[in-house]
Amino acid sequence: MARERIVVGIDVGTTKVCALIAAVSEDDQLEVIGVGVVPSRGLKKGVVVSVEETVESIEAAVAKAEQQSGFKIVSAYVGIAGAHISSVNSHGVVAVHRHDNVITEDDVNRALEAARVVTIPPDREIVHVLPRHFIIDGQEGIKDPAGMLGHRLEVDTTIVAGSATSLNNMMRCVERVGIGIDDLVLQPLAAGEAVLTDAERELGVVLLDIGGGTTDIAVFCDGSLAYASILPIGGNHISNDIAMGLRTPFAAAEEVKLRHGYALPELIEEDRTIEVAAFERDEGRTVSLRLLGEIIQDRLDETFDLVREQLAKGGYEGGLPAGIVLTGGTAQLRGIRRLAAQRFQGPVRIGVPTGMFGLVDTISGPAFAASAGLLKYGLKQEEDGASQRHTPSPLSGAVGSVLTWLRSFLP
Ligand SMILES: Nc1ncnc2c1ncn2[C@@H]1O[C@H](COP(=O)(O)OP(=O)(O)OP(=O)(O)O)[C@@H](O)[C@H]1O
Ligand SMILES: [Mg+2]
Repeated sequence: MARERIVVGIDVGTTKVCALIAAVSEDDQLEVIGVGVVPSRGLKKGVVVSVEETVESIEAAVAKAEQQSGFKIVSAYVGIAGAHISSVNSHGVVAVHRHDNVITEDDVNRALEAARVVTIPPDREIVHVLPRHFIIDGQEGIKDPAGMLGHRLEVDTTIVAGSATSLNNMMRCVERVGIGIDDLVLQPLAAGEAVLTDAERELGVVLLDIGGGTTDIAVFCDGSLAYASILPIGGNHISNDIAMGLRTPFAAAEEVKLRHGYALPELIEEDRTIEVAAFERDEGRTVSLRLLGEIIQDRLDETFDLVREQLAKGGYEGGLPAGIVLTGGTAQLRGIRRLAAQRFQGPVRIGVPTGMFGLVDTISGPAFAASAGLLKYGLKQEEDGASQRHTPSPLSGAVGSVLTWLRSFLP
C-alpha cells in the first residue's frame, strides 16, 4: 500500500485548541480527515500561563482528531502567537564562489544565514527567516535566484522572533503530549495561507486575526510576509467590557455579545432593549441594545487605533492597496466589517479558510483561519522539500525540524 502523506496542525488559541489531521492527495490537495476542537484552558493573551492545563487541552483536542481519523499524531506544525512576537527586516549578502557563476540552493541558504545574523537579545529566539526578494549583482526583485548567473547574491528578509521562554513553554506543552514539532509557525502567517488570495498577497494586504486573547497583525506584500505584530487584546476584552458595563457575569456577557452584539450602535434604534442576567441576589436587568453596541464599538475603536499605531511602526501608515482582511472568531461580530472599513478608510472583507476538502464543515468559519493555515503551511514545506527556504532555526532544529512523513497507524 502506498504510504499516506499526512500533515498535522495544532492551533493552541486563548479560547480554543484545534488539532487538524489532513491527508495529502496525489495532486497535492489537503483532505481534512480528523478535527479536534476543545475549549482552551491554560493560556492568556496567546501565551501559556499553565502548562498542566494547556497539556490537558491539547491532549483532548488531539484525542478527538486521532479518533476521527484513525491516525496517531506523531508530529505537528504548531502555531505561536503572543505580544512577545515581533518582526524585523534584515539583509544578507554573499559572494557566489562557483567558477561558472551559477547560483545554487546552497548560495541561497548562505544568503539567508547571513540575513539571520541580526542583533537579537539573548532571551529571544528566531522563529522564521522569510525571504522577501533577492538581488543579484544589483538587480532587484528576484524571487527564485537558484540557477541564475551572478557574482553577488543579496536577500531582503523578514525575521520573526519571540521570547525564548514563551516559545519553549509552548513546545514543552506539545512535547508533553508526546508529539514532535515539525515547525513552530507564526499564527498570522498560517492564517494568511488559509484566507488570502495570491493577488492580495502580491498587491499588498493587511491581515487582522482578531481571536479571543490576541489581535494578530500581518502585512503581506509582493507575495511574502513583510511585517508582523501581535496585540494582547481580543474578543475576551469585549466580553469583559460588557460584563463590567452591564454589571453581568462574564459568561452572560459573552452570550449577550454573541446573540445581540453589533458594532455600529448608531444604527440601533434607541428604544430597543434586552434582558441580562445579574449577579447573585440581584434581579435581572433591562439594558439598552445601543449601550451594548457602544461598549463593543469603544473596544474595537481602541483596538483599531492600536493596530494603526503598529502599522505605522512598520511603515504602513498609508494602508495597503488590497485593504484589510478580517479573520478570527471576532470577525463574526455583526457590523465589524463596516466599522473597520470606516475606521481604516479602505476595502475590508471577512476571510474564511478555503482550498481544502473532507471534514471541513466545523472549520469553515473565520475562527479557524490559523488552524487551517497550519495545514497549508505544512503542505508548502513539504512541496519545498522540507523547506530549504525557511531555514530551520536552531530552536526548531533542536526539537527536530525534519519532516516526519511516516506516520504510524492506530492499531
Ligand atoms: N458570532 C460572534 N460574534 C462575536 N464574537 C464572536 C462570535 N463568535 C466567536 N466570537 C469571539 O471570538 C473569540 C474567539 O476567537 P478565536 O476562536 O479566533 O480565538 P482563539 O484562536 O482561541 O484565540 P487567540 O487566537 O486570540 O489566542 C471569542 O472572544 C468569541 O467571543
Ligand atoms: Mg487564534
